[in-house]
Amino acid sequence: MCGIVGVTGVSKALPYLLQGLQKLEYRGYDSAGVYLTDGAGQDAFIKEKGRVSQLAAKAEKNGFEGTAGIAHTRWATHGNVSIENAHPQKSADNRFYLVHNGVIENYQELKDIYLNNVTLVSQTDTEIAVQLVAKFAAEGMTTEAAFRKMISLLAGNSAYGFLLIDQQEPETLYAAKKKSPLLVGLSDHGNAVTSDATAMIDLTKEFIDLQDGDLAIVKPDQVTIYDEQEQKVDRPSFTLTIDPEDTDKGAYPYYMLKEIDEQAVVTRKIAGHYFGENGELQGIGCAITDKMAEADRLYIVAAGTSYHAGLVGKRYFEQWANLPTEVHIASEFAYDQPKLSDKPFFIFLSQSGETADSREVLDNIKKQGYPALTIANVMNSTLTREADFALPLLAGPEIAVASTKAYTAQILVQAILASALGEPGFDLKAELAKVAVEIQAITDEKEVFQQIAADALTDQRSAFYLGRGLDAAVALEAALKLKEISYIQTEGFAAGELKHGTISLIEEGTPVFALLTQSKTAGLLRGEVAQVAARGAKTFIFASKDLAKEGDAFVLPQVQELLMPLLAVIPAQLIAYYATLARDLDVDRPRNLAKSVTVQ
Ligand code: M6R
Repeated sequence: MCGIVGVTGVSKALPYLLQGLQKLEYRGYDSAGVYLTDGAGQDAFIKEKGRVSQLAAKAEKNGFEGTAGIAHTRWATHGNVSIENAHPQKSADNRFYLVHNGVIENYQELKDIYLNNVTLVSQTDTEIAVQLVAKFAAEGMTTEAAFRKMISLLAGNSAYGFLLIDQQEPETLYAAKKKSPLLVGLSDHGNAVTSDATAMIDLTKEFIDLQDGDLAIVKPDQVTIYDEQEQKVDRPSFTLTIDPEDTDKGAYPYYMLKEIDEQAVVTRKIAGHYFGENGELQGIGCAITDKMAEADRLYIVAAGTSYHAGLVGKRYFEQWANLPTEVHIASEFAYDQPKLSDKPFFIFLSQSGETADSREVLDNIKKQGYPALTIANVMNSTLTREADFALPLLAGPEIAVASTKAYTAQILVQAILASALGEPGFDLKAELAKVAVEIQAITDEKEVFQQIAADALTDQRSAFYLGRGLDAAVALEAALKLKEISYIQTEGFAAGELKHGTISLIEEGTPVFALLTQSKTAGLLRGEVAQVAARGAKTFIFASKDLAKEGDAFVLPQVQELLMPLLAVIPAQLIAYYATLARDLDVDRPRNLAKSVTVQ
């Protein structure tokens, strides 16, 4: 979603800010802006709708590069997509410039109470915040005090990451955060503030993660941080371990394809991390397994693709660890909490670790005193920090909005965790080695899926994925992949439900993909495929080797049946990719979507 970058004390601010915004593009946005200053009275304020490249063109034409500045990519919440609503927002007296991630719940009320005589130029809650800072400064407060006062007026549920520049102190950045990530970057040739450390890796790899309630004053050679009680604090810094190349596309045309291909390597990396040389489990502390063993029920909470991975993980926890498991959509659970068991244990699944819906649930259940584990790709994220325990997904940066390798990683880590609590009945480590080989074998057959996409989806407006049992769970993810990037309306369906209504949607040529990897229901599923074929559907069966029959569209290599989701999802990811490419759409950045959904 929205992204923040800021630098001070550098020789040229603009290149750092534009590169930073480019690195944040994957998160999704619809406008961008930058404010630059040089400490000697010169400044530039440039905003643009659309892509960062359009902002860059405008900024480069302007020519001013500054030595400090703040910049932002905005994903519209309050107010439509327009230059006026893009950030930075500035105060009416042209003194303060502010970028903001998050939502100010009581902005209308604040406007009515404090800003009746100010003419607003945007529809954003952020403009209210910057006008308030200007008002309090005009009344005689220091910038720090005015910034604090504005923050103190925000309703308790408001979320924010703020970065402010006062034109009268052009080398100082004022930053504050609550429920929205913000980090300070440290270097010998200038300091930075960013909502995502990877955006600033061209300047530094050393960062301080600000905590909720922190206010930081960042100067070229000095950083001062105050906690919620306004006490000076020393926050530890950490060194980012990713390589700049990890966030590059390399020779790939799109991140999504690179990330699909990385799944074999990710599988090996996860197995290598969680299994020792002799097959012993490692990296999952006893504190986690002991706490889970005390529980009478697991509650997996997640959103989107991560929710779908949870539906697969449920099977491992129930079957191997004998732990009843419920899987919940975070945005539903947050406001309609079901009746819980006596000793619940919560697992939050998330690629980003920043999903606002999941954070809301974590907040709620912490208040009720329940233990929680977050399994996330981005360690040090809010969900990992705020849960009692955290385990890494180790998938490496996932940049494409459509999640692929994080899904397989989530299934893998859940399988390994369940095996730590119980008994899979086979050598999981050895089987995962086989899974990695077979994922590679499937991704090596890209032309097959490109052809299927061309045969099935060129002119279609709708499609179906069917399955039973674990295949039904994968069908949901397969459908999400196809619809979110190709805009083909796709339903993932438990095949047995078809005859209870949905089969009426099947017409001549409707593409129906069936995932057939579960022996118990293979016969029934073939029957359901025959029923839709008899009504005109164009059917494609992706069957595991043991269950395949002549005429199936693709034979998936055979691994342990419970691990087949790790293979069955790959064709669906590739079909989604090629169908989208054929429609000449931006595979990595589908419309209206953000990579990290940090608002509820
Ligand atoms: O970062 P998270 O895993 O918590 O994100 C949850 C969903 O927003 C995410 O999985 C989304 O559905 C995918 N990007 C879709 O491919």
